[in-house]
Amino acid sequence: MSLERTFAIIKPDAVSRGIQGEILARIQKAGFTIVAIKSMRLTKEEAGGFYAVHKARPFFGELTDFMSSGKIIAMVLEADAAILKWRDTMGATDPKKAAPGTIRHDLGTSIGNNVTHGSDAPETAAFEIGYFFAGLELI
Ligand code: RTP
Ligand code: MG
Repeated sequence: MSLERTFAIIKPDAVSRGIQGEILARIQKAGFTIVAIKSMRLTKEEAGGFYAVHKARPFFGELTDFMSSGKIIAMVLEADAAILKWRDTMGATDPKKAAPGTIRHDLGTSIGNNVTHGSDAPETAAFEIGYFFAGLELI
């Protein structure tokens, strides 16, 4: 095993409900190091750039409206096999299908309002970390 970094978002539904602390506690309990963290609000265009791989999907408009609807918390998390580990900690995309004990099962309310994002591969993690953070923020 070797240390790896992944990109995570606490989405607008979670921030507006005030459950950031609960999610950060789960991140800590799971053993991640928070390398970088910031609170910000994306424009619809910035959300579209982030989710560009989903541009052709029917839910793209809804997804970018949602992701620009309020503040998010963007983070870089580090751990052994962090990409898979964070996906496991979040659970399946649809909270109804996520395993009990996962963040999305326990805190998500719908497939759209699923409280967190996580990179799905080393290439997407590298792109997403660079989309949100400058090199000096990642030391
Ligand atoms: P994320 O990128 O946000 O971590 O989620 P994910 O990898 O588990 O799922 P992905 O396939 O990348 O989809 C991105 C986000 O789009 C919304 N979605 N809606 N209505 C639908 O059928 C549908 N499918 C996906 C979800 O909010 C998902 O997180
Ligand atoms: Mg995804």
